[in-house]
Amino acid sequence: MSCFSPEIASAHAFFTEDSMGSGALLPQEAELTASFAKKRVMDFATGRYCARMALRGLGISEATPIPVGDGREPCWPEGVTGSISHADGLTGSLAAWKRDYRSIGLDIERLGAVEEALLPLVLTPYELEWVRGDTVLATFIFSLKEAFYKMQFPLTRQFLDFQEVETDRELSQIRILKAFPGIGTLTLGHRVWQGHIITWALAV
Ligand SMILES: CC(C)(COP(=O)(O)OP(=O)(O)OC[C@H]1O[C@@H](n2cnc3c(N)ncnc32)[C@H](O)[C@@H]1OP(=O)(O)O)[C@@H](O)C(=O)NCCC(=O)NCCS
Repeated sequence: MSCFSPEIASAHAFFTEDSMGSGALLPQEAELTASFAKKRVMDFATGRYCARMALRGLGISEATPIPVGDGREPCWPEGVTGSISHADGLTGSLAAWKRDYRSIGLDIERLGAVEEALLPLVLTPYELEWVRGDTVLATFIFSLKEAFYKMQFPLTRQFLDFQEVETDRELSQIRILKAFPGIGTLTLGHRVWQGHIITWALAV
């Protein structure tokens, strides 16, 4: 049973506060973790567990491996898009059929994780002006940018810097401040749950 459910139309989410061990990995995935430190294995395994639970919501068998692409992105089964995120104490995944969403990005951050010293790196001059040193608001923006990045990468294969992406004051839109391939219509969402900010970006 997922500990949190954002209820996004046509998408399936699964979140857990638990940590899984390598036993949650399928053999093809376990091979990828040979050089990982123990904490990274647990994060990777918990993310794969959440992803398989989200896939189960789409009617896809639990034995489906989710390998890693050359941009470190998770590789979903044919016809599926999804995303994985882990933060201290909460891991989650979102999955949907590509006929419903072209791509999905999910991010989780601990509230206030973005400290004051990081604001000039994460926020553009415009964002710095209206955020006025509020680290909770800055963490929202950081998280939305991460969710947006994960959503856009499978579509464009492009890297984006924090200074190349800007949110509006309502946190409802993101604009890219450089020449960039079109990514179509976008929906952003967020919830606060148990000391975490959970954000998502959906391309239709
Ligand atoms: C990929 C990235 C966004 C991950 O964010 P994070 O907050 O550090 O970590 P999270 O736990 O939330 O997410 C990690 C998961 O993102 C997914 N991911 C990694 N690279 C990805 C990519 N290129 N595209 C989509 N998803 C990706 C993976 O599933 C990964 O977990 P896994 O390795 O266990 O499978 C970050 O590490 C990164 O590379 N950032 C550089 C680009 C950026 O942030 N630009 C500024 C915003 S526009």
